[in-house]
Amino acid sequence: MEIKTITTQPFDDQRPGTSGLRKKVAQMQQPNYLENYVQSIFEILPELVGGALIVGGDGRFYNDIAIQTIVRMAAANGVKRLMVGQNGILSTPAASAVIRKFEAEGGLILSASHNPAGPDGDFGIKFNGHHGGPASETITEAIYKFSQSISSYKIVESHDIDLSTTGSQQLGEMEIIIFDPITDYADLMESIFDFDAIKAWITKGHSLRFDAMHAVTGPYATEILQKRLGAPADAIINGTPLSDFGGGHPDPNLVHAKVLVDELYSDGGPDFGAASDGDGDRNMILGNHFFVTPSDSLAIIAANAQLIPRYKSGINGIARSMPTSSAADRVAEKLGIEMHETPTGWKFFGNLLDAGRVTFCGEESFGTSSDHVREKDGIWAVLCWLNIIAARNESVAQIVESHWQEYGRTYYTRHDYEEIDLESAKGVMAHIESQFEALRGEARLGSKVKTADNFSYSDPVDGSQSHNQGLRIILENGSRVVFRLSGTGTVGATLRIYIEKYESRLEKLGEETQIALSELINFAEQISEIKQRTGRDAPSVIT
Ligand code: G1P
Ligand code: ZN
Repeated sequence: MEIKTITTQPFDDQRPGTSGLRKKVAQMQQPNYLENYVQSIFEILPELVGGALIVGGDGRFYNDIAIQTIVRMAAANGVKRLMVGQNGILSTPAASAVIRKFEAEGGLILSASHNPAGPDGDFGIKFNGHHGGPASETITEAIYKFSQSISSYKIVESHDIDLSTTGSQQLGEMEIIIFDPITDYADLMESIFDFDAIKAWITKGHSLRFDAMHAVTGPYATEILQKRLGAPADAIINGTPLSDFGGGHPDPNLVHAKVLVDELYSDGGPDFGAASDGDGDRNMILGNHFFVTPSDSLAIIAANAQLIPRYKSGINGIARSMPTSSAADRVAEKLGIEMHETPTGWKFFGNLLDAGRVTFCGEESFGTSSDHVREKDGIWAVLCWLNIIAARNESVAQIVESHWQEYGRTYYTRHDYEEIDLESAKGVMAHIESQFEALRGEARLGSKVKTADNFSYSDPVDGSQSHNQGLRIILENGSRVVFRLSGTGTVGATLRIYIEKYESRLEKLGEETQIALSELINFAEQISEIKQRTGRDAPSVIT
């Protein structure tokens, strides 16, 4: 089979963000755009030559076309075995699981997560390494550097590969294995959780609703919740994956999963509700008339870990991203285990998980997972909750409220200002940082400013440093506001404000979040001049 070397020129916008390279579909469709990036990956990761590579994505528009390109380039670059999820489908956590199970050298995951899909939507690609997790910053930076001087890429000429039938086929020297993307993952879940207890809870007549948001988790939920756990068919809504996610925004939060939220808050609504995102790594957990913040979810899963078979003999430690609330810290303290605070993005958890220093990881952005994979895992989080609910035989609200009574409650909210002008966003950040020196030691909102800094992280495993990871103002009483620019958007800039306050007085545990945090919210808005500088009078999304 003839390997062709095609001359190309660099694109200057191929630096990956928080989670791989994400662009508008039209940008990805430019001639040579995807090819340049994929070739840069092959150049930086020589272990792929003669190795095994997993490929799959969340099924969004352009998934199948991109996979055919990757197949041809993998053959030309000397990959020995290419394993593709049937029909090109693999949720992000399932991709991580199969990379680990088949001991592949890595995987290419095609997704733009929760960003809308379709010809006018977004597309993305990221490389995960041998351990199953997103490539480190050092590797993504090297890939980017290579892409900036690329002059050619390698590809073979071939017909499109049939991705719909499982089995093995040959393309030149390369073996292509099309495999069922669901079974291995479902088996892994069954090995972690007490499926009998969950099944019994469902059989007793408890009701649940899972919103797959027309994205990748539909078939996973059908196999696990319906077939293996006996939930009725109507327990899964929007379960058919669509290449444009039905025109929706598959981000499982109070705004974008509103239909589900309304149902859970209705009279006679289900006992448990959950949703996942485009590629299946995020989760939202709801009870009847109850929303569990992702930060609380991490803390509560950790505090109840002994009820889940895989973790019953204890957990090693917990890690959370810096903007995630400190609720889990109090659990770690009580358990006497390690607690780590990392920059935003799942890639920063990889070393801690590989070194066995942490078992659970979480981000406030609806991401939770454990050392069973190296990605966040939406369905895993749903099963954690079902397992804990079944084992405790309590409602979601009872479980959360008794957690607050024991540990105190960390009120938490995130205010996003989406698609604002990039220069104004930078101006807001610079304005906040310019006040840091004056703020330190000052009295604010009845407490003293303990820290005002730009968060840096030193990885305790390999010593690598990451700077400029978010502006923090922390008061001595534990209250905190954090400002960050998003690294996943594709239009303008998105500024996120994270606000939290700790409360242990029993009579103050039941307040409405935005009200409980109103003083801090005002402080954050004043200090940042966000409204004046962006011309926005309110955040676009509050979670
Ligand atoms: C967002 C979330 C972050 C998450 C990432 C990928 O990144 O905030 O926690 O890891 O998506 O799902 P951001 O847009 O804030 O850079
Ligand atoms: Zn995602």
